[in-house]
Amino acid sequence: MMSSSSSPDRSFHNFCLLFLNFISFPTFLCCSFIQAPYGRHIRSGWGPTIPSWVSWFLMESPTVFFSLLIYPFGRHVSSLRSFSLLSVFLLHYIHRTIIYPLFRLHRNSNGSFPISVSLMAFTFNLLNSYVQIRWVSHYGDYEADEWFWERFLVGLVVFGFGMVVNVKSDLVLVGLKAQGGGYKIPRGGLFELISCPNYLGEIIEWLGWAIMTWSWAGVGFLLYTFSNLVPRAMGNHKWYLEKFKEEYPRNRKAVIPFLY
Ligand SMILES: NC(=O)c1ccc[n+]([C@@H]2O[C@H](COP(=O)([O-])OP(=O)(O)OC[C@H]3O[C@@H](n4cnc5c(N)ncnc54)[C@H](OP(=O)(O)O)[C@@H]3O)[C@@H](O)[C@H]2O)c1
Repeated sequence: MMSSSSSPDRSFHNFCLLFLNFISFPTFLCCSFIQAPYGRHIRSGWGPTIPSWVSWFLMESPTVFFSLLIYPFGRHVSSLRSFSLLSVFLLHYIHRTIIYPLFRLHRNSNGSFPISVSLMAFTFNLLNSYVQIRWVSHYGDYEADEWFWERFLVGLVVFGFGMVVNVKSDLVLVGLKAQGGGYKIPRGGLFELISCPNYLGEIIEWLGWAIMTWSWAGVGFLLYTFSNLVPRAMGNHKWYLEKFKEEYPRNRKAVIPFLY
């Protein structure tokens, strides 16, 4: 893993990096016992709500605007390597921040979302964008890394595969919602093996990012995503079994085919 020198910003970045790497376990525990109250798990007691497409747009927005704001202050701003990494990060987050919410709005998959949960996600996205993009643009010395492009290509393939799985699965789910009549059993492709291929795709994407960036920043985000989405997938799977009972395919796992 690559590392880099000392300044107040460097100390702050180290602190955020440590924080990111250490919150995974508590996140996993918390999310295993308390399902985040949005979508099918929404419930009262979490304060006022806003339309979910607005929430997705607002809470994910730091990943685009804050990333673009801090990148130019990096000492590697004109490095093709740093720019390639930034582009991959933005590829995911332009989709998540702009295209995905508009798609939900367009397909009428638009429930309500507690502002309190949005605010927590917004704060996490600020922290994570700072950790990832400050690393990529300033602290990670990719020009000195002779294996950079090999790792970048391997990571890109993994990331690309994950993104295709994630986006395709989200399209299927939002499409089901658009048909009206509430939640349905998703069918076809990876849905035959697991309940939440969209989450598996997201985890694979950030595995690719960890390979590309070859950094504790990337590892921290991968661990966090895993800790956030695996318990939610377990909750969704249990919810499907309770809602659809015998109708729900028994051989389907939650998020890792044949295993979990
Ligand atoms: N990196 C991270 O830590 C992180 C965290 C959270 C989410 N994400 C990503 O954000 C995206 C959305 O996450 P999510 O938790 O909202 O996903 P989700 O619960 O699977 O919902 C996705 C969309 O499909 C609808 N839907 C889901 N299952 C359905 C069914 N069986 N029948 C009909 N409609 C269904 C949902 O409607 P409702 O909203 O009305 O339920 C929602 O519009 C995913 O790609 C996920 O990977 C990433």
